[in-house]
Amino acid sequence: MLEHLELENVGPAPEMALDLQRRLNLITGDNGLGKSFLLDVAWWALTRKWPRDLNPRLTSGYPARPTDIARPAKLRFALTTDAGNSRSFESTYSARDQGWTGQPGRPWSPGLVIHAHADGGFSVWDPARNYWKRRGNIDVQDRLPGYVFSPQEVWTGLTAEIEGRATRVCNGLLDDWSSWIRERGDSARRMSEVVGALAVRGEPWEVGPLLRLSVDDAQDIPSIRTDYSGAVPIVHASSAVRRIAGLAYMLVWAWSEHERAAEQLGLRIAGQVVLLFDEIDAHLHPRWQRTIVPAILGVMDRLTDSDASVQLIAATHSPLVLASVEPHFDEERDRLFHLDFRDGRVRLDVMPWAPQGDALNWLVSDFFGLRQARSVEAERAIDAAQAYMRGDTLQCPEDLREPERIHEELQRVLAGHDPFWPRWVVWTEREGGGQ
Ligand SMILES: Nc1ncnc2c1ncn2[C@@H]1O[C@H](COP(=O)(O)OP(=O)(O)O)[C@@H](O)[C@H]1O
Ligand SMILES: [Mg+2]
Repeated sequence: MLEHLELENVGPAPEMALDLQRRLNLITGDNGLGKSFLLDVAWWALTRKWPRDLNPRLTSGYPARPTDIARPAKLRFALTTDAGNSRSFESTYSARDQGWTGQPGRPWSPGLVIHAHADGGFSVWDPARNYWKRRGNIDVQDRLPGYVFSPQEVWTGLTAEIEGRATRVCNGLLDDWSSWIRERGDSARRMSEVVGALAVRGEPWEVGPLLRLSVDDAQDIPSIRTDYSGAVPIVHASSAVRRIAGLAYMLVWAWSEHERAAEQLGLRIAGQVVLLFDEIDAHLHPRWQRTIVPAILGVMDRLTDSDASVQLIAATHSPLVLASVEPHFDEERDRLFHLDFRDGRVRLDVMPWAPQGDALNWLVSDFFGLRQARSVEAERAIDAAQAYMRGDTLQCPEDLREPERIHEELQRVLAGHDPFWPRWVVWTEREGGGQ
């Protein structure tokens, strides 16, 4: 697992440091403050590769560039290796080599690492298939350095160059899943279980039959059966369903192939899985945002038969994701981080755990920083009303300095049952405003 990450003169802040917890780490913060970038740096710390270097078709995951090339730039990290040892390393940017310094020899194996990118692409680093080989007594690094999938390649397969030859290294969701269904073996069972476990609780959602899109098209397409639409070919399904299907496939593919490779090579199965997940709520309806994090933690436990420890590091913009972890949050194993732009610079804070009760309260907490969960216009009218009640008319916008105008605006922008009404009405009656 990743224990510590530190950046100096790299990324949106002059420096940033985070101590991660061993199970769940959630990162919140405004757009552009570095959540995705931190996840890419985390992936690099664990695997020593930048996703984009391994697959030029990616539109994210570029190598980190120093902010000020004239000053030293550093990336420090500490991790627990799959063998259970604590290790730390400091890498500096070498402007001459246009890259980050590495350590000589075999890097440490962090276990299985899976990175879900925000756009639906994935990166997988497998300690059995991507680690160095031993040839005689010598360590050689001639295995594939990692599997990096563009969103398209998750579905249609990945070809990579191995020893100078283009080699199909993954068949992709469409081919693999339909073969699994035809074989009716362990992989099909696993995929159904994972798909089922990631579904919104209480809602029927299961794997349907193989379908054809047209008489001319020979490709069998897996389908998903829901309550309301029968069996839908997975390529026709919503973005949310495809996001979850892609995730289920990548988890099953990565774990099954890891198990198979470890067996063939006579290696131990990974004791650790690190799951990096960008925008974990992307495309999901609130019902799904509310169940996705607990579901993923549960699924990983099942996939690995609880034999591996699973660390999830995820970025989110969803107050419902935070509300959803309240019953599960354990300060010994979980932590919340928040990226903030304060006093002229980006800062990364560890946020003390304080349950907020519901998504609305999370929205107005420091994590999301909204003062109100209402429309911009309603917030403005309420701000004006409050300033007026305090006698602070100068704080009111020019068009909202008269009680009549404020009242009209409140009527225009607030719902009839808005909880602000009683305060305003009682106040205006008491003050004899007579509204
Ligand atoms: N490869 C990189 N090297 C250096 N800085 C980067 C790199 N990629 C992104 N950044 C920094 O991160 C910022 C974008 O942050 P990002 O992670 O996309 O934000 P978020 O995911 O929180 O919306 C950029 O403004 C830049 O400062
Ligand atoms: Mg992002």
